[in-house]
Amino acid sequence: MIDKKDEKVIILAIESSCDDTSAAVIIDGEVKSNRIANQTVHEQYGGVVPELASRAHMANIIPVVQAALDDAEVTKHDLSAIGFTRGPGLLGSLIVGVSFAKAFALSLNIPLIEVHHMNAHILAHFAEDPKPNFPFLCLTVSGGHTQIVRVDNYLDMTILGETIDDAAGEAFDKTGKILGLPYPAGPIIDKHAKEGQAIYSFTEPRVDGLNFSFSGLKTSIMHFLQKEMRKDDQFINDNIKNICASVQSRIVSILLNKLSVAAEQTGITEIAIAGGVSANSGLRNGLIQLCQENNWKHYIPAFQYCTDNAGMIAVSAYRKFLVGEFVGQEVTPKARMSM
Ligand code: KG4
Ligand code: ZN
Repeated sequence: MIDKKDEKVIILAIESSCDDTSAAVIIDGEVKSNRIANQTVHEQYGGVVPELASRAHMANIIPVVQAALDDAEVTKHDLSAIGFTRGPGLLGSLIVGVSFAKAFALSLNIPLIEVHHMNAHILAHFAEDPKPNFPFLCLTVSGGHTQIVRVDNYLDMTILGETIDDAAGEAFDKTGKILGLPYPAGPIIDKHAKEGQAIYSFTEPRVDGLNFSFSGLKTSIMHFLQKEMRKDDQFINDNIKNICASVQSRIVSILLNKLSVAAEQTGITEIAIAGGVSANSGLRNGLIQLCQENNWKHYIPAFQYCTDNAGMIAVSAYRKFLVGEFVGQEVTPKARMSM
């Protein structure tokens, strides 16, 4: 156990914005533990059921926090502060993490640090080496967001472009629902795509500037499948790998084309991806290729730091701790939260 409490900055971080309950411990900027309890209850419903997510968070949070403390070989009495995701996310889910963090901080008489979930996805790059150099561009792609962000410092970020409708993760998940795949479909589409060929072509939407749109793609996939299924009701079953490869290839090209324009416009050559969809093999390989062609440097997080995790919340909380950005007990969760 660590006994020199005052010499080290030891932060417990909590993430509960959607359907993963996670806790992590960071000691002097180094993530020492990162525990995640996934919720499988949503699979059968084709999406996250908010009420069930809140209940699962309540059941998971104490054991997950205890495991994160144990893994890091600290006790609650060693903690310097508690960081938590304030938003954006599902309100009922956020309430569980925020309430826990507030109560725990109050009982231990230590400060609270609020963290923005999307900033934290980007700062996941500082959980492990190699770390990007400032300024860098980050394509942040999750179930709820799709953004190109200019990152000038840990806490200085500017959104250059974002989706005007669905997020990239939603495009994967909603397509999966049409294909009859369980939620979340992103990783399953990725798996099928590896064994298929992108032989079906879906049009790339025209959207101004660095913004994205995915709702048209979803509609064109649906029309294509309806047309083919009328001719052959086994079409999806027989061609699932090629369909997935085609869908994935288009989503990836939409993302990378805009990212490439952003790099050219800003002259920034350090290029990162973050968020759940950054676990996608097509996106990871596509980014590597794009960066090699242009002599840019690419940064791809380890899998455990792509999807929702408290490790990234811990990195963000640590940076805020260093500049003294604390919040009081009056803090409340925010389902919608600007950067
Ligand atoms: O960041 P995240 O864990 O949660 C949110 O903040 O939304 O992202 C979840 C999203 C889901 O839409 C899921 O389908 C997608 O990330 N995802 C993937 C892959 N792994 C997770 N999408 C495509 N390929 C993957 N391998
Ligand atoms: Zn997320």
